[in-house]
Amino acid sequence: MQICHIGVAVRNLDKALEFYRDVLGLPVVAVKTMEEHGVKVAFLDAGGARIELMEPLSERSPVAKRMQRQGPGVQHLAFRSPDVDGLGAELKAKGLWVMDQLPRQGCFGEKTLFLHPDSAHGVIVEFVEEPEAVAEE
Ligand code: CO
Repeated sequence: MQICHIGVAVRNLDKALEFYRDVLGLPVVAVKTMEEHGVKVAFLDAGGARIELMEPLSERSPVAKRMQRQGPGVQHLAFRSPDVDGLGAELKAKGLWVMDQLPRQGCFGEKTLFLHPDSAHGVIVEFVEEPEAVAEE
C-alpha cells in the first residue's frame, strides 16, 4: 500500500504554514474549510505524498478533542486504495474497527474510510480512493 498523505493536527494553520510552507518549502496544493468534519485543512506536496495540516474549527470537533488528550502532532496516516468499499468490508470481516458505515467524501472528491486507532496501534488510519484510481480500472 502506498502512502497518500500524513495528517497533522495543529493549533493554528497559519502558524503551521510558516513552518511547512515557508521553512521547509513545501508547495501548498489546497486550503479548505470542511465544516462537516470541523476542520480547516491545508494540503502540501511532499514528493510522492502530501502533508495534511488540520486546525479544528471548534472545541467540539473530533480533531480538537483528540488534540486535548494528545496535543498537536501526527494524527492519521492515509493510504491509497483502489476500492475502499471492498477494503472496508474486508477489514470489518477481520474484526477491525472501521469508523464509517459508508465512505466519506474527501476534499478532492475522493472516497475515504477511517479505521479506529484501537485497530491500528494508536494511529487513525485513513484509506483514500482517488477518482483517478477508479478511472484506471
Ligand atoms: Co486525511
